[in-house]
Amino acid sequence: MAPRTNTSAPYDGYHQTWIGASDSVLTQVGPGTPCGEYLRRYWQPVELAKEVGERPKLIRVLGEDLVLFRDKSDRLGLVHKNCPHRRASMEFGICEGGGIRCCYHGWLFDVDGTVVEAPGQPDGVDERIQASTRLGAYPVREYQGLVFAYLGPPESVPEFPIYDTLEMPGHEMVPYKAPFHCNWIQVQDAILDPLHTAFLHSRMSRQQFSEGFGEIGEMKFYERPSGYIGTATRRVDDNVWVRVNELVLPNYTQAGAAFAADGTAQRYFGRTSFARWVVPLDDTETMCFAWAVFGDRGDPPEYNTPEGPELIEQGEVFDRPYEERQRFPADVEACEGMGVFSEHEKENLVPSDKGIQMYRRRLRELIGALQDGKEPPHATSIWPNPLPTYGGDTVLTVPANGGDDRKLLQKVGMAVMEIQFAAEHLKGEERDQQVIAALKTLEAEGVAA
Ligand code: FES
Ligand SMILES: [Fe+2]
Repeated sequence: MAPRTNTSAPYDGYHQTWIGASDSVLTQVGPGTPCGEYLRRYWQPVELAKEVGERPKLIRVLGEDLVLFRDKSDRLGLVHKNCPHRRASMEFGICEGGGIRCCYHGWLFDVDGTVVEAPGQPDGVDERIQASTRLGAYPVREYQGLVFAYLGPPESVPEFPIYDTLEMPGHEMVPYKAPFHCNWIQVQDAILDPLHTAFLHSRMSRQQFSEGFGEIGEMKFYERPSGYIGTATRRVDDNVWVRVNELVLPNYTQAGAAFAADGTAQRYFGRTSFARWVVPLDDTETMCFAWAVFGDRGDPPEYNTPEGPELIEQGEVFDRPYEERQRFPADVEACEGMGVFSEHEKENLVPSDKGIQMYRRRLRELIGALQDGKEPPHATSIWPNPLPTYGGDTVLTVPANGGDDRKLLQKVGMAVMEIQFAAEHLKGEERDQQVIAALKTLEAEGVAA
């Protein structure tokens, strides 16, 4: 086999045929794996609520085959696929008022997995069956059209997180899901990679979002108690556009508007236009569950069409002919093209990858700590609901002053974030007012040279 060498010699294919390892600590998510255990400490979306109807639905989450159902009392249940009696699949079960009934011998299970009836037995459900037998089940809740589940230890169910952008008056939340046929971490990485927007979504493809995304801008990354923020600050004529991407650990992300914000018009504390979780179905399949957000601080309501969420998510619709995918690649082409598992060992990371490096390092630390018995932090243990978030766009009129404009952009970007951080203890209208007033003051007074 050719040796593993790092070389920049010309025509070096022969020396690069070795298989690079993927980071298995981050890529493996099944039950009992370190990362799988970590992700199981958080509520995760598992399906669109509208797809849970009168028949049970077989789904896969974190490497587990599960059956999601809505019983006739309108209660959601999420249970292990196989019946604890003799292992028939609950996907063929019948939803009733009191839970789900297995098709094979008619045992009825409540949404928490309790055996309610075991018909055909001499004593019905005797205490012995109930004491020794239970269908594996998980807590579920429906929120804004998504179904969430908690697959971790039942003795430590975390508070359900409600982010401040998810209940903004006048904004419409449209739930959607986007499949990626590859490992989750290479999908997740993109949110802390603001540079890809200028290339993948603008220069290398067609202009998939607004025109200003083609500018690279000044990038900065922030480590926060519950996650990461990546900002890209661009000049658009006399305006400075600060775009904020955000990741709340472990896998919730927000970004600003895809179409409404282009830096040409002032915008004060614009909020996210897509809020999404990158959920591993297993090691090789990923599903992004998300909302597209339409309204005056997200993307404009005219984009609220059947394709709108797909365009906000990817810059392109999801199902496209191969030739079109080649001519106009979007996120799914970039991520799936790496292979099912990216060979992390063969990456050559550069300064613009700093956000990804920080994030992966933190994940490894938290995963390791959990293995040592230290439970990971939750945003809800730092702040009460609704949780402060930052993803969005601010555009201020700050003309170039004849000095070093890159420095000016950096200062404006940092000042905009400091204003948001200073108000993170406030809620709703009060926070908006303080942030927006401070942004207008910044715009009027400028930043110190
Ligand atoms: S296998 Fe489910 S009731 Fe028998
Ligand atoms: Fe992207």
